[in-house]
Amino acid sequence: MTPEQFRQHGHQLIDLIADYRQTIAERPVMAQVEPGYLKAALPVAAPHQGEPFEAILDDFNKLVMPGLSHWQHPDFYGYFPSNGTLSSVLGDFLSTGLGVLGLSWQSSPALSELEETTLDWLRQLLGLSTQWSGVIQDTASTSTLVALICARERASDFALTRGGLQGQPKPLIVYASAHAHSSVDKAALLAGFGRENIRLIATDEQFAMQPAALQAAIEADLAAGNQPCAIVATTGTTTTTALDPLAAIGAISQAHQLWLHVDSAMAGSAMILPECRWMWDGIELADSVVVNAHKWLGVAFDCSIYYVRDPQHLIRVMSTNPSYLQSAVDGEVKNLRDWGIPLGRRFRALKLWLMLRSEGVEALQQRLRRDLDNARWLAAQVEAAEDWQVLAPVQLQTLCIRHCPDGLEGAALDAHTRAWADRLNGSGLAYVTPATLEGQWMVRVSVGALPTEREHVERLWANLQAVVSA
Ligand SMILES: Cc1ncc(COP(=O)(O)O)c(C=O)c1O
Repeated sequence: MTPEQFRQHGHQLIDLIADYRQTIAERPVMAQVEPGYLKAALPVAAPHQGEPFEAILDDFNKLVMPGLSHWQHPDFYGYFPSNGTLSSVLGDFLSTGLGVLGLSWQSSPALSELEETTLDWLRQLLGLSTQWSGVIQDTASTSTLVALICARERASDFALTRGGLQGQPKPLIVYASAHAHSSVDKAALLAGFGRENIRLIATDEQFAMQPAALQAAIEADLAAGNQPCAIVATTGTTTTTALDPLAAIGAISQAHQLWLHVDSAMAGSAMILPECRWMWDGIELADSVVVNAHKWLGVAFDCSIYYVRDPQHLIRVMSTNPSYLQSAVDGEVKNLRDWGIPLGRRFRALKLWLMLRSEGVEALQQRLRRDLDNARWLAAQVEAAEDWQVLAPVQLQTLCIRHCPDGLEGAALDAHTRAWADRLNGSGLAYVTPATLEGQWMVRVSVGALPTEREHVERLWANLQAVVSA
């Protein structure tokens, strides 16, 4: 494709995206296709000769589009909001179009410096002190893996320079709440801690980690001759947006000199609202924190922000310095390859920069406040309705709800819940996520897609009431 052809087809693609966003509400939210539908419709091998762009676009519209579930739809209440503001979409497009890589500062100086600057802007917006330095990772899963590797190396006094974890005299232990995201478990396993050395700490009636149970688990490990290493606390758990009490957990981590990583992948966005900052009271006691700017905040996927208090430790764990990557200015600059796992770095900061500049902080804050209001409104309707329950505190924009008609319990209630959630999702009118809470099925409603206004939430409530009796 020549630059001239790119100009022409690029315009077509931008039109396609703009039309898509303008008319998205007309589509069923969840894809209405069967497994294997697309594979059956596509050729089994790549074409030998190039094909006209129009033919490719035609296939995209006819074949691919019907297989999409629409995350940017006003009736999307699944999983979590993964908002792609159009300003950040342009930033992503620009980044890919430029095709520059940040292997080192010198390989694209502006790439590193824009990342440093925009992450410092975001740090201020989140209310974090100047003690923190940030770097963009792909996902929270990676950020948490990096945190646990750093924790492992601090606790083992850089075992990686000797026999690694295999040479450690005592097992290193990781603590997280029983409601921590599966990525925490995965990160601990991938960082080599081993299943037997992950402690899931009991939660209270609000599904938040109990500091007393954490303290007891650490003491039990010390008595057993194990070495406590890291705590992962969550601000905004995936199932219920529960808030682990960071101040109390931070005090425990300090007393035992344990690494404290805070997973604020979802709820971190809310910290741009001063009225929500109480939720991570104690954050300054942590060693690392992850906030996914690609969730509710609105930066097009992927853009996970990892802040650390001790960048020198991170660099010591992650750095590699082969001759072909060295430059004369290495002593003066940040080489972001030393701030995470991959060597190559996309120019992801562009999409954050474009979004912050073109939306402005006030509009972002207003949108998040709108979503909080909408979630509270829906919670009030559900609570007031006969046979409906809100099962967890609505701290932010996620509701856990159940319809409990008289006489239904246990397996029968589970079957009812899963059936109405499937009916709702299958109708294409809304997309919600069924999940279990304390062993019983319920439905998560995650408010906060970009175009979701009160009228949509009102419609959702009407649809919920209709679908349970259908
Ligand atoms: C609290 C929490 N942590 C981590 C993750 C994982 O995020 P990612 O997909 O960026 O790895 C999620 C995603 O749902 C989450 O809600």
